[in-house]
Amino acid sequence: MALPFRKKTVSTDTLPEQLPKHIGFIMDGNGRWATKRGMPRKFGHREGAKNFHDLTRYCRSIGIQNISFYVFSTENWKRPQEEVDAIMDLLWQYLNDCDEYLEQEVRMIFIGDKSRLPERIQKRMLELEADSAKYNKMNLLLAINYGGRDEIKHAAQEIAAEVKAGTLQPDQITEDTISQHLYTKDVPDVDLLIRPSGELRLSNFLIWQCAYAEYYFTNVLWPDFSREELNKALVEYSKRGRRFGGV
Ligand code: IPE
Ligand code: IPE
Ligand code: MG
Repeated sequence: MALPFRKKTVSTDTLPEQLPKHIGFIMDGNGRWATKRGMPRKFGHREGAKNFHDLTRYCRSIGIQNISFYVFSTENWKRPQEEVDAIMDLLWQYLNDCDEYLEQEVRMIFIGDKSRLPERIQKRMLELEADSAKYNKMNLLLAINYGGRDEIKHAAQEIAAEVKAGTLQPDQITEDTISQHLYTKDVPDVDLLIRPSGELRLSNFLIWQCAYAEYYFTNVLWPDFSREELNKALVEYSKRGRRFGGV
């Protein structure tokens, strides 16, 4: 069953000229959103998924080149099995409802360790990555069974294997070598990292790629993080002085 889309309009008149090339979203607060309404947590995930669709469409329409969403972390397996199952079911529905993105020439990239995910989900992810590899209007990165430390460990293993094989010398390893072994290798670093729900932490999301990101935190819960809320974040971002260590 297709997830119902929430059609929204918002004025783009106030959008700043300088937009981030890469926005990272930590989609947090779904559980609290549902609990506040006396509903089971899974309803919050469903509502959060609708919002994710809407913001993806919005980012595509305003010309953001790269967006990353934290969908499921390597730590989220600790949750009750019923909740993990509900999230996997939603994910399966979502993966079968991506035609719109392909029509919009969006490239889909799944970041994280696919091997622990149900087989049908892994297979569908690979199909979507292959079907959309030719598109370049926007890169949509979905972090599923993703952890920043796990990603860096994985990169270290690959680099160590090259050193062992004699194709790479230890003193040839640069920061770029590491970047090129991350799941995000085709995508620039994060410019703007957005976390709703009032928590002030990264929770292991894109820890390497956010080294010089601008952070935007808000108490709004993810299902309520609307296009208007994103516009506010974009305005705030445009006012930040990014120096990257310079003056
Ligand atoms: C984020 O919302 C979604 C996932 C981690 C899958 P939460 O489920 O963490 O919601 P809260 O933080 O408990 O409200
Ligand atoms: C981060 O949210 C993970 C995702 C949004 C997928 P969590 O709710 O799992 O993070 P913590 O536990 O508050 O750090
Ligand atoms: Mg949370």
